[in-house]
Amino acid sequence: MYSFLKALAHNPRETGAIFPSSRFLAKEMAAHVVKNQAGVVVELGAGTGVVTKALLQAGIQPNNIIVIESSPSMVKKLRRRFPTIQIIEGNAAELITLLAHEKREVHTIISSLPLRSLPKSVTQTILQQINTLLASNGRYIQFTYSFTKDQFFSLTNFQHIISKRIWMNLPPARVDVWA
Ligand SMILES: C[S@@+](CC[C@H](N)C(=O)[O-])C[C@H]1O[C@@H](n2cnc3c(N)ncnc32)[C@H](O)[C@@H]1O
Repeated sequence: MYSFLKALAHNPRETGAIFPSSRFLAKEMAAHVVKNQAGVVVELGAGTGVVTKALLQAGIQPNNIIVIESSPSMVKKLRRRFPTIQIIEGNAAELITLLAHEKREVHTIISSLPLRSLPKSVTQTILQQINTLLASNGRYIQFTYSFTKDQFFSLTNFQHIISKRIWMNLPPARVDVWA
């Protein structure tokens, strides 16, 4: 919690939340990952690692998870907390370059990125990279605090298949899935 508040104070726009995600929200996000697929799950904006932990609890093997996080202090803590997971320090807007070494297919991208508070051009670049990188039968899972129905995060190559509100989070959130 302390590390989260510190990140919030230093970089409110990139942190994009007042509190870390609840375990209920993290569990819901992880539940939409299709299990036993060949390839990797890429997590964007892991922050304190609540969703990372939920992925492990959902049965995803640590060597099949790659985390991208831009905050150096969060990266340090994530590496300490999850020593067997590949944690890459970097900007999700450079996703394809950051994962250039990875030969396995990306079947899931699960994101806590604050896409609404990031500059619009950064958000658009991130979405384009996700569109390109994700396997054609893959899934993109994103949470948001916005309850409006507009398709701000839409991906051109994928259909919006699930939208679920999670009340047990501060503030309440929504999980969206594209496939
Ligand atoms: C809403 S917070 C993290 C939520 C996380 N589920 C938690 O509870 O800790 C968003 C995270 O995205 C990271 N972030 C923001 N912009 C990013 C970017 N362009 N690339 C990678 N990470 C980014 C921030 O540093 C922050 O840790």
